[in-house]
Amino acid sequence: MSIEIAYNDAPLGHEIRGVDLSEDMDDATFAEIEATYDRYGTIVLRDQRLTPDRQLAFSRRFGPLDRYVLERYNHKKWPEIFVISNIIGDDGEPIGMSDAGRYWHTDMWLTHNPPRGSILYALEIPQENGEPLGDTYFASTGAAYDALPNTLKVRLDTTKAAFSKRQYAEFRARTNKEIDRPSGQASQQALKDLGDEDIIHDIVRVHPRTGRKCLYLCEGVVSHLIGWDKAESDSMIAFLERHVTDPQFVYRHRWRVGDLVMWDNCACLHKATGDFELPLRRHMHRTTLSSARPSA
Ligand code: SIN
Repeated sequence: MSIEIAYNDAPLGHEIRGVDLSEDMDDATFAEIEATYDRYGTIVLRDQRLTPDRQLAFSRRFGPLDRYVLERYNHKKWPEIFVISNIIGDDGEPIGMSDAGRYWHTDMWLTHNPPRGSILYALEIPQENGEPLGDTYFASTGAAYDALPNTLKVRLDTTKAAFSKRQYAEFRARTNKEIDRPSGQASQQALKDLGDEDIIHDIVRVHPRTGRKCLYLCEGVVSHLIGWDKAESDSMIAFLERHVTDPQFVYRHRWRVGDLVMWDNCACLHKATGDFELPLRRHMHRTTLSSARPSA
């Protein structure tokens, strides 16, 4: 079977049509989906009807899965499913992470070997006046790198960046609406427990499967470029944060129930808008694809 791709105007976020993930898929179709995912960094499959087992089975075709580091948010029965949800459980706390990813980021930059990518499936989507809320933005880090002047590319190609957990905790404390809830406090504590040493990554990552060069950074997290003068480093970080999220590199996903969106942690950044509150409910299941290789 040859898959059909509906392209949008952005460099990523194209929709694969005509595939039903609740049914077994032949190897050729899977290979086309994987090639499309590798090529664009974010893909969308709409109108799916997936049980947790089917989502896990599809996810495992890409290789081993990671469990999300904050165990509290993993599904009790299927712990490789990270629950993103604002629904309140019996203990009075959200049954999943209610404030996930509300800044431009790539998942698990806190580790030396970040996962390959994630697969997010929508079970409940908030709506207001018939319009969905809780959109997610995706920015192509490969297209953003390609658009840089050559002299800057050459310089950045050999630059390492310090990703600061301390700066991230301060950023969360300043910007996160859920920070005062017990679950928000628990996330802050879990972050502290991971230690406060900087994580060093290349600011330009070479995609381990496609060889494409991609900018690698997160909003409010990169404290300095190693070996750069402080003023120059500060202004370059500010420039790169603006540049990579320039509208020409961005796809905005407006969720519908049954959507499955896959993103690649090297080829894009993403950001959840979080523009809704209870009683509007948002409930999602995320699986995380392991990476075989360190980033730096
Ligand atoms: C995430 O960053 O994994 C969450 C994205 C979303 O909830 O839209």
